[in-house]
Amino acid sequence: MQLEALHATGSVEERLGLKTHKLRKQREKILKTRLSSDSFIDRVIDKMVSSDFIMKCITWPTGIAFLGGLEAGNIVVEKHEISHAMIPEAFDGFKILHLSDHHFACMKGQVENIAKVIDGLEYDLVLITGDYMHKYYEPVSLALDELEKLYPLLKAPALTILGNHDSLDIVEGMETIGYKVLLNEAWKVSKGDASIFVAGVDDPYYFESDDIAAASDNIPKDTFSILLTHSPENYIEAEHQGFDFLLAGHTHGGQFCLPGGYAPLHHGRCPRSMNKGLWRYGELTGYTSRGCGTVSIAARLNCKPEVAVHCLTK
Ligand SMILES: [Fe+2]
Repeated sequence: MQLEALHATGSVEERLGLKTHKLRKQREKILKTRLSSDSFIDRVIDKMVSSDFIMKCITWPTGIAFLGGLEAGNIVVEKHEISHAMIPEAFDGFKILHLSDHHFACMKGQVENIAKVIDGLEYDLVLITGDYMHKYYEPVSLALDELEKLYPLLKAPALTILGNHDSLDIVEGMETIGYKVLLNEAWKVSKGDASIFVAGVDDPYYFESDDIAAASDNIPKDTFSILLTHSPENYIEAEHQGFDFLLAGHTHGGQFCLPGGYAPLHHGRCPRSMNKGLWRYGELTGYTSRGCGTVSIAARLNCKPEVAVHCLTK
C-alpha cells in the first residue's frame, strides 16, 4: 500500500490557508484570554455552573462516577462491513481501524486500554477523528505524550484530523511523531494501480474552520472517497461534494445513556440518528464513533467506549 499527499507541503499556516488559519487562531485566543482575564469571582461562578462541575455533583454522590469509571475503561471493538460499487477490486477486504475522541488528560491508562483491544486486530490503515486534548487551553504535551505512546502500537499508517478540543499547536508535534494531520487536505491510498481517497477537514464545531470543497479539490470524480470530520454536522455538504463514506466522532454517543443506549443529551448539531454508529444520508454512508475516551469526568453509562474496524467490501 502506498500513500501520496494531494496537497502542497509547508507550514500549518500555508496548508490551512492564511485566512482560515488566522480565524482559527483568533478563536483559540479569545477562548483562552476570556478565561485568564475574568476576575476570580467570575471564574468561580463559571466553574460552579460549568457542565464539569454539575456532572460531578450528580455522579459522585449517586455512585454513577464509580460505576461509570469502570465502564469508561472497558473499550469494545465494533466491526462493520462497508459495501460500495466504487470500491476497487484491490480494496475488497481492506480494513480501517477508526479511533476517536481520546481526550487523554481526562482519564489515565487509556493507551493501555486501547493496546489490549487492538493487539489482536488486523487492519490496513488507521483513521483518527480528533479530540486528543481534554481542554483546548491545556499544554499540548499532555496529549502528545500519550499519542507518542500510542503510535508504535499501531500496525498501519495513521491519517488524522483535529477536533474542537485541539489547538493548532499540536499539529507539529503529531507530525514529528509520525501521524499525518489533514488540514482540509486529502491523501491518495493506492494498491498497485487501484486507489481510494481520504480527505480530512479541520474542526466544524467550535472553530468552524472546515473546508470540504478545499479538502476534495484534488480528488478525481468516480472514485471511492472517505471524509474525516470531527463532528458529523457537515453531512449535507459532504454528500453534495460526492463523498461516499464519512467518519466522525465528537458526540461520545451521549456518554451517559439510559439503559438501552438512549442518550438524553447529545452534542452533535445533527439528527439523533447520527449520534452514534452507522447511518445513511442520500448517497452518503456515515459512521459516528462513541470514541475511546471521556470528557468532563472519567465515566460513561450504558455507552461503552469503542474502537471500530470498517471492512470495505466490493
Ligand atoms: Fe469534540
